[in-house]
Amino acid sequence: TVPVITIDGPAASGKGTIAERAANALGFHYLDSGALYRLAALASLEAGIDLSDGPAAEAVARNLKPVFRDSRIWLEGRDVTEAIRTEKVGVAASQVAAIPGVRKALFDLQRNAAQAPGLVADGRDMGTVVFPEAPLKIFMTASAAVRAERRAKQLEARGLKADREALTRDLEERDRRDRERAAAPLKPAEDAKLLDTSDMTIEEVVKKVLDWWQL
Ligand code: CDP
Repeated sequence: TVPVITIDGPAASGKGTIAERAANALGFHYLDSGALYRLAALASLEAGIDLSDGPAAEAVARNLKPVFRDSRIWLEGRDVTEAIRTEKVGVAASQVAAIPGVRKALFDLQRNAAQAPGLVADGRDMGTVVFPEAPLKIFMTASAAVRAERRAKQLEARGLKADREALTRDLEERDRRDRERAAAPLKPAEDAKLLDTSDMTIEEVVKKVLDWWQL
């Protein structure tokens, strides 16, 4: 079987950056599962469907055919790499992610990402639901203030505007919805290692993950 490292945690905890760098260091594939929920949200918003309409959102998720190539994401021949990163789409993603049928529709896409020589997968339920057999599971957290600041810098680096107060509110709303939903709520797997990255640099966190992997 293909080895998988799962990294779960709340919004803007640094999972994506760390997962991608750890994957590069190990020569593993990288799965950004949040991007799939963001794609489902973007497609739902553009189709004009009501985000609380479960069957409609599920149908959209089932028909998603995203292409991941050279760190860019394509949907129906359109480059949506930037379009899925707005906070509006993030909030919409956490709405469609609460729909069990949407989660089911995206399950196989995620499982199929486990290809040799290995995979680093980041999200909310990678260790609890999608890859429960993973030998290394990490639950990454950071304080709300640190997370809001990291997300603001990320948005600004992409040339987007960042309103720190609104960001903090969005992150809190999203985290609450992700933790309180019935389907695959955000929580550490029983065998997950907890890592608070509030006072750590990216390099320190990557090293920690690789050290755990080599143990
Ligand atoms: O980048 P950020 O941490 O803000 O969010 P993301 O990882 O792109 O995920 C966006 C939203 O998708 C989350 O708020 C979750 O509601 C949902 N999600 C999920 O339910 N399960 C996953 N495995 C990944 C994301």
